[in-house]
Amino acid sequence: MKENQPSATAQRVAMRRAAHQLLDDPKVFDDPVALRIIGEESASALQADPHQFEATPLSPYLRAFVAARSRCTEDELALGVRRGVSQYVILGAGLDTFAYRNPYPEGMLHVFEVDYPTTQAWKRARLEEVGITVSGDLTFAPVDFERQTLEEGLRNAGYDSGKCTFFSWLGVTEYLTTEVVMTTLRFVASAPVGSGVVFDYMISPSLLTPTQQSSFDALSKRVASAGEPWKAFFDPELLTKDLRGMGFRYVEDNGPEEINARYFKNRKDGLRVGSLSHIMKAQV
Ligand SMILES: C[S@@+](CC[C@H](N)C(=O)[O-])C[C@H]1O[C@@H](n2cnc3c(N)ncnc32)[C@H](O)[C@@H]1O
Repeated sequence: MKENQPSATAQRVAMRRAAHQLLDDPKVFDDPVALRIIGEESASALQADPHQFEATPLSPYLRAFVAARSRCTEDELALGVRRGVSQYVILGAGLDTFAYRNPYPEGMLHVFEVDYPTTQAWKRARLEEVGITVSGDLTFAPVDFERQTLEEGLRNAGYDSGKCTFFSWLGVTEYLTTEVVMTTLRFVASAPVGSGVVFDYMISPSLLTPTQQSSFDALSKRVASAGEPWKAFFDPELLTKDLRGMGFRYVEDNGPEEINARYFKNRKDGLRVGSLSHIMKAQV
């Protein structure tokens, strides 16, 4: 992250979610707030030409992945709520919109949006600007993962560590150090039985094929030039083992085959995620 500046990648992924609403039929992730949250100017530009931000051959894969990881998260959240989850912690929330379309009755699911303080302040200004109201079921928790533990940040925000909780962490782990990612996951693993997490992560470059390597290089260059370089990479097998070691009882890594089979089967438009896509699900 650029010191004291809102995340540039947060706006970019929100633009992809918004583009998904306009470009793809059927939608994998239906988000009626996706266009409003990107701001009036961006929304008008996107509506005028939904393809204008789809600048490279990788764009449809990225749009598909951003849609799929949110869909997968909210599917898992729904299962969690059925088994008693009553808190939802969105780590590195960026312009995530779940809290502004929370489908559960008031008081049933409390949402905590955790984010880098400057990104969070920017989002709150955006919410005001576009007239999205914040319900009593949402608490903002400003936390810089590199400087403060999640535990401390959540405690200050009124998080109840005795309640079954679901965590999501989308598009964030690659921007942190491995140590911070593991410390945070250990905290999640200490949540009551029935709690869970969904997060995506970047595969270790040493495991990539030459074709994957060229996508990796193109993407990593792009985020580094936005001032948000990738720092943490994982081997899916080792990560699965580490999560089990932390105490997660169910751990499921979903690679591109699983994600495409689950969310992109039989599409006429060929939309699908690319080969670098991995979504991890883990349950305490
Ligand atoms: C690519 S955006 C993803 C946003 C959101 N999860 C989504 O999928 O739309 C990355 C997010 O990670 C957050 N982030 C990056 N480094 C962070 C840090 N050190 N502490 C807290 N949040 C951080 C940024 O503020 C930003 O919201």
